[in-house]
Parts: sequence; C-alpha cells; structure tokens
Amino acid sequence: MTHIRNIVVLTGAGISAESGIATFRGPGGLWEGHRIEDVCTPQALVIDPQLVHRFYDMRRAALADVVPNVAHVALARLDREWPGDLLIVTQNVDDLHERAGARRMLHMHGELRSALCADCGQRQTWAASLPMGAVCEACGAAALRPDIVFFGEMPYEMEGIETALAQADLFVSIGTSGAVYPAAGFVQLAAASGAATLELNLERSAGSGFFDETRLGTAGTLVPAWVDALLGDSAAL
Ligand code: NAD
Ligand code: APR
Ligand code: ZN
Repeated sequence: MTHIRNIVVLTGAGISAESGIATFRGPGGLWEGHRIEDVCTPQALVIDPQLVHRFYDMRRAALADVVPNVAHVALARLDREWPGDLLIVTQNVDDLHERAGARRMLHMHGELRSALCADCGQRQTWAASLPMGAVCEACGAAALRPDIVFFGEMPYEMEGIETALAQADLFVSIGTSGAVYPAAGFVQLAAASGAATLELNLERSAGSGFFDETRLGTAGTLVPAWVDALLGDSAAL
C-alpha cells in the first residue's frame, strides 16, 4: 500500500440503501415515483411549491424510521481514528452519516434537516413539516425552501471539495451511479492529482472505467472490510 495520508470519500444513495432509503435510479427508486422536473428543479418550486414541500416533507419523515447501517458506522470509525486528513463528501440529503458519528463531512446537495431562506440565504433547522409561508428566523420573509440543491443549481462547497481532491492520496467512491455531475467527475480530478482511486458499489457505474479498482458488492460488506484493512495497515500512513 503506497503511503496514504489524505483521503476523500464520496458517498451516494447506495450507502443508505441498506438502511431502507430508496436510491434514485434503482428499482423502486425515488425518481420512479416522481418526475425530477416536478420536485427537484427551481422551476418546480415556482410551479407547484406545495408538491415540492410535500416531497421533501415525506423524505424527511422517512428519516425517523431508518438508522445508520454498518457502512455509515465504519466511515464514522475511520473519521475518529484516521490521523491524516479525511473528508466525507456526501451527495445524500439524509443525516445517517452524522447520526453514525461522522464529523469531517459535508453535504454537497444540501440536507433534509435544513431550510434555506431564498431571500437572505440564511439556513435554519427544518425539524418537522415546513408549512408553506413559514417565515425565516433571520429576516422574517416567508421565503423558506428546502435546503436541497436542485437539478440546474450549483452544488455546495465545490471550492473546498476541489481543494481536497487536489491534495488527496486516495479517493474512494461508495454507492453512486456516476450519473450526475460534478460529483461523477471527482474521480478524474483525484486521479489527475495522483491519487489512487477505489470504487465500492453494488454494480459497475458510469464512471467505473476511471477507477484504479472497482469492488462489487454491498456497502454493508465492502466498507467495513475496507476500513478495517486501512486502519490495520500501518504502512498506509
Ligand atoms: P445533471 O444535468 O448533471 O443531471 C444528469 C442526470 O440527472 C441525468 O442523467 C438525469 O439522470 C438526471 N436529470 C437531470 N435533470 C433531469 C430532469 N429535468 N429530468 C430527469 N432527469 C434529470 O444535473 P444538474 O442539473 O447538472 O444538477 C446540478 C446539481 O444538482 C448536481 O450536483 C446534481 O447532482 C444536483 N442535484 C441534486 C439533487 C438532490 O436531490 N439533492 C437532485 C438533482 C440534482
Ligand atoms: N451498496 C452499495 N451500492 C449500492 C447499494 C448497496 N447496498 N444499493 C445500490 N447501490 C448503488 C447502485 O448500484 C447505484 O450505482 O448505488 C448507486 C445509486 O445510484 P443513484 O440511485 O443514481 O444515486 P446517486 O448516485 O446518489 O445519485 C446522484 O443524483 O438525483 C440526483 O442529487 C441526486 O444525489 C443524487 C444524485
Ligand atoms: Zn431570510
């Protein structure tokens, strides 16, 4: 194992599948039940805000019935025990990484537990349902929306992500189909900076060809084994 110090991990819907949260493009995926343009675009928020709020209220309510799985727990252990730099970038909007104990992480597509004020840009906790017309705690405007990055909008914290990828010695992608950019391009950015690249996924993804290695299987099997090996391999540092 070459000397690994700085790690970037990208997770997608697949890491939460074994917790019971539907992925987007698999059988019964979220996009099967809803048209993306109806619930996950800026236009949808103008055309039918009630539908958009109901879609995200439904997804938030579902969080109460799920718990982190062993893959989230293994990443949280890596977060606690890894002495080098680590950044977990999740495309997911659920809070399972946090509930498993991960700290060095960010949500590039936003998160269900947060509401964003379209007027002043302030965020606030979105615990229960967010009624239409709910007012912003910071500016009082009735302009709160789901703090979710819609198709066509720019993901969050891209500068920090690109910096971490440029400095990474290892990039690991877990449970994502590689269907949506810019996340799907991270493997190429990491490889261009000389990082080793590893994909852990149920099936080959659109980006599998860009990885040094692809391991096929469930996150619940592959992630704990990968973390155990990495932490057990003193030469990795
Ligand atoms: P994109 O155009 O790269 O999306 C590519 C894929 O997304 C397509 O292959 C298709 O599978 C799907 N897609 C996009 N728009 C669609 C539409 N109107 N109808 C059906 N399928 C559609 O995505 P983008 O517009 O560049 O997205 C910008 C950013 O927003 C990206 O980072 C994306 O991941 C993010 N995003 C977040 C969510 C979320 O639920 N948080 C949903 C969608 C997009
Ligand atoms: N273990 C590992 N991988 C899994 C598992 C599992 N148990 N179950 C499913 N997968 C894999 C699937 O093979 C698929 O490649 O997870 C991937 C899920 O892909 P998508 O459903 O497309 O989800 P994701 O890649 O996260 O979508 C990216 O698109 O809709 C937007 O912004 C939204 O963040 C989302 C983005
Ligand atoms: Zn405001």
